[in-house]
Amino acid sequence: MKDQYGRPLTDLRISLTDRCNLRCVYCMPEEGIDFRPPDDLVQDDELVLLVRIAADLGVRRLRLTGGEPTVRPRVVDLVRQLAAIPGIEDMAMTTNGVLLKELAAPLAAAGLQRVNISLDTLDPQKFSRITRGGHVEKVLAGLAAAEAVRLTPIKLNSVVVRGFNEDDVVPLAALTLERPWEIRFIEMMPFSSVGDFAEAAVVKSEETMAAIEGALGPLEPVDLSGSDPARTYRLPRASGTLGFISPVSQPFCAKCGRLRLTADGRLRLCLLRDDEVDLLTPLRAGASYAVLTEIFKAGAFRRPFGHALAEKMFPQARAMIQIGG
Ligand code: 5AD
Ligand code: SF4
Repeated sequence: MKDQYGRPLTDLRISLTDRCNLRCVYCMPEEGIDFRPPDDLVQDDELVLLVRIAADLGVRRLRLTGGEPTVRPRVVDLVRQLAAIPGIEDMAMTTNGVLLKELAAPLAAAGLQRVNISLDTLDPQKFSRITRGGHVEKVLAGLAAAEAVRLTPIKLNSVVVRGFNEDDVVPLAALTLERPWEIRFIEMMPFSSVGDFAEAAVVKSEETMAAIEGALGPLEPVDLSGSDPARTYRLPRASGTLGFISPVSQPFCAKCGRLRLTADGRLRLCLLRDDEVDLLTPLRAGASYAVLTEIFKAGAFRRPFGHALAEKMFPQARAMIQIGG
């Protein structure tokens, strides 16, 4: 399956829920958002059907996101069912790590292969501020559990936010000296829900890289090919790597082959645009497998080329927590 620009579509990101046990400042507004009633969300059997269709169309890699995917009821059983779908070769999860201490082992046993864990700072007070009340020790315990059951290579995601954690990029980067992790520094994307704040608080990758080089030494390029959204580097003699994801300052849309399925069953054609194709409504109205496959394929084909952040067009309809990154 390809889109109208010839980009192969082999990766599907699936949001398992629009809820979360944290409330990060860059992901959701202070007052919270209207969560969908549970009946409006794709049920387990419906999701398995939609992923079968995706796999028939050539999807090979799944990433489970949220909200926070681990708060979905019966997530372990769902992972087992998704892992068994013919054609699916790789399954990873993006999680805040809070529940991983308990869930890492069962998720790995069910067929999950890797995790990306969000960690914006190691400082307990700053962590609590950026997540509006979270405890960093829980994430660190979850990280240890994930490593122990080999949900590896471990990647950590840090969104850099001015006034919150821009000084924490150095201690985070220093973790890679000893640990074989990839720590990825992400430019905050300005969703309308976190609007004015987000635009002013973006820290460009260039600035983050300069801070890290100033404190820890020169960054040696590892992979700048653009096949991954992160451009990766290594500190001198480090065991892990550093990734820089720059959706704002260096868009990587040209090589983006990601499809997204929202928790309420819409195919989202670009993270940063509101275009969506409803799959759940026809599914519930009894559309056949063949018809659903056609809707999926036609929707995927008309993916827009990329975002329009440069023209100050920000996605309006959903907050990040409702898409899952
Ligand atoms: N900009 C960039 N990344 C974000 N994430 C959440 N909100 C934003 C945003 N506004 C990332 C977090 C998390 C993942 C699910 O999405 O790092 O790891
Ligand atoms: Fe939850 Fe992740 Fe959003 Fe933070 S970034 S509120 S952990 S979904």
